[in-house]
Amino acid sequence: MALILGLESSCDDSAVALVTSDRRILAQRVVGQNQAHAPFGGVVPEIAARAHVEVLPGLVREVLDEAGVALGEVDAIAATAGPGLIGGVMVGLLTAKGLALAANKPLVAVNHLEGHALSPRLVDPDLGFPFLLLLASGGHCQLLEVRGVGDYRRLATTIDDAAGEAFDKAAKLLGLPYPGGPAIEALARDGDAKAVPLPRPLVGSPEPHFSFAGLKSAVQRAVAAGTHRPADIAASFQQAVIDCFVDRTRRALAVSDAPTLVVAGGVAANSAVRAALQGLAQEQGRGFSVPPGWLCTDNAAMIAWAGAERFAAGLVDGLDAPARARWPL
Ligand code: KG4
Ligand code: ZN
Repeated sequence: MALILGLESSCDDSAVALVTSDRRILAQRVVGQNQAHAPFGGVVPEIAARAHVEVLPGLVREVLDEAGVALGEVDAIAATAGPGLIGGVMVGLLTAKGLALAANKPLVAVNHLEGHALSPRLVDPDLGFPFLLLLASGGHCQLLEVRGVGDYRRLATTIDDAAGEAFDKAAKLLGLPYPGGPAIEALARDGDAKAVPLPRPLVGSPEPHFSFAGLKSAVQRAVAAGTHRPADIAASFQQAVIDCFVDRTRRALAVSDAPTLVVAGGVAANSAVRAALQGLAQEQGRGFSVPPGWLCTDNAAMIAWAGAERFAAGLVDGLDAPARARWPL
């Protein structure tokens, strides 16, 4: 049994977790920065990086103390090495390097997307490879065939905005706070998803990709028209995104014989999204797995877990591991 400490700092959440290779989360912390960024209506990279400097080391102390584990008992230190806001990535990666150096432990440089991709396996011991993954977060929207640790085949990506980014932009247009996803989901509960006609970009297209920019522009026009209830716009927008997800994922399932459909990333915290994809899996005769909401949005348990999977496969990194703003899986 290996004990892995994980650090996450690629966006606006400072997070630390200690997990075991047999799927126990001994302790974890996630500290968001929503208040710091709220006046600017989005994440300010410079503010985020400075906040990680202030918060992250203290979270390491708290997590080790809560678990009653000394740094020397940890088997490896994992940290997000990208992709993400480079200042924050550098803070987390360098903190992990310092810990690895001090305790003479191996470093595991984790791709944040791999953290999301493998996160379902932390809570679902029956989820084997391969599986088809819809990864929908603030920075990405991809369909991936996950064949093994470090073995990913990308079937589709977005040609413009990420899905979470679309939620955030639509929320801003509706005067809702950042992050927009949870705010839209809450408002959509009182709305009629058929009230506002909105486009479903690329639905039915033979090409595999996603597109959300046109949807944002349509929301902008619907808001400007001033004739629709905000709740109806929110519900109609959410349904349009879901229809895109379902259509594009159905297309990917047609070219993948992976037995299980998995949804992960921040947008997978949305219960309407989860329900729709579960329905698709059922329709297509595939299994379905989705992590609990707290494991969908950014956290360090998924980074520690990806670190545990890589460590078990002998994939460790040197102290010269680079921080990467861009890093496709
Ligand atoms: O995975 P994540 O926490 O960070 C990134 O790696 O980007 O994803 C954050 C994104 C944000 O755009 C946020 O609005 C969206 O996930 N999100 C949601 C929900 N919760 C978070 N989108 C829709 N519904 C939600 N309940
Ligand atoms: Zn993420």
